[in-house]
Amino acid sequence: MDMHLSPDAAVFHAVLARLSPDDRARVDATAAPAAKKAAEAAPHWDFEMPAKAVDALLDADASDDVRRGLVAAWALQLPDRAAAMRLPAEVMALYPYWIEQLAAFLDKAEGEYVFDHWSKDVRFTLALSVPGAKSQVIDLSSPVGPGQIVKHVRDGWGLTPLFRYLATGAKREPWLEVHTESRWLRGFNEDGWNEAWATAAELCRARPELAGMIGSSWFYDPPLTEISPRLAHLRLNPLNGGAFMVHQGPAPIHTERAATASASRKALIDSGEYTARSWLMIWPRKELIAWADRRKAG
Ligand SMILES: CC(C)(COP(=O)(O)OP(=O)(O)OC[C@H]1O[C@@H](n2cnc3c(N)ncnc32)[C@H](O)[C@@H]1OP(=O)(O)O)[C@@H](O)C(=O)NCCC(=O)NCCS
Repeated sequence: MDMHLSPDAAVFHAVLARLSPDDRARVDATAAPAAKKAAEAAPHWDFEMPAKAVDALLDADASDDVRRGLVAAWALQLPDRAAAMRLPAEVMALYPYWIEQLAAFLDKAEGEYVFDHWSKDVRFTLALSVPGAKSQVIDLSSPVGPGQIVKHVRDGWGLTPLFRYLATGAKREPWLEVHTESRWLRGFNEDGWNEAWATAAELCRARPELAGMIGSSWFYDPPLTEISPRLAHLRLNPLNGGAFMVHQGPAPIHTERAATASASRKALIDSGEYTARSWLMIWPRKELIAWADRRKAG
């Protein structure tokens, strides 16, 4: 991944070059300590913690140009950072595409830096999350506490996750966690998701300490098999590969996301016929690696 003279590197240099001298000084002074604080915050369950840790180091009046400058500075260091992490070939092969996407995004970006984008870009450029496929990014360290499993059982959703959780070693951590990158959705389809699960399996293989892979979303909700069949693979493929699901429940953010792109789902939500619920998908490493081996063999 040599990007020292690439068009992407030129974009990142240009983002830095158009900063005012004051903002450039802020970026230069903050990049290293902010990277350290972000890395310390990364194992938290809250995906946004690294970005919040960087924000806490920035002056209250720091502009989003400074944030874009930090992301550009970290992006220039990313090839060396990723190379030092001895990541699986499947991850390394995705970096050129992801860096190109990020460069195209930053090239045109101005005004507000949407917090979800800022959160994702901090994690990505500091390699706290790595590419899993074209539209999926994987956090390298995420916790799964017993609280959600207990709540699932207490709320009457069944005992299966409790037994499965205990069988995976209960407090064994960390887990990988997958997220969708809504800015580049080309790989949001069954093949793209299978690629993401397979990349996670290779990460688990390379890192024996990992407990497996998790994901949390409204799109694992069982009624979608009927009302949005094109999304059914998101739940059924992991389940058929040995994952289990933990009920998280409804919330305004899940309603909003489920209603964003589908007119038919929005109509069901608006009429009260459907309530979007989030589920935690847990795919233990043994079953995930076995699934990936079967996929390779097939
Ligand atoms: C997650 C998301 C990217 C999935 O999008 P998607 O793969 O297009 O699937 P959706 O079920 O949402 O489909 C959107 C609509 O476009 C239509 N559509 C999608 N792909 C299509 C295709 N190839 N041809 C024709 N129509 C298509 C679908 O029919 C659907 O409309 P309908 O349900 O009324 O029929 C999208 O719902 C989204 O952006 N949501 C908000 C962000 C989000 O939730 N992110 C995940 C956070 S956990």
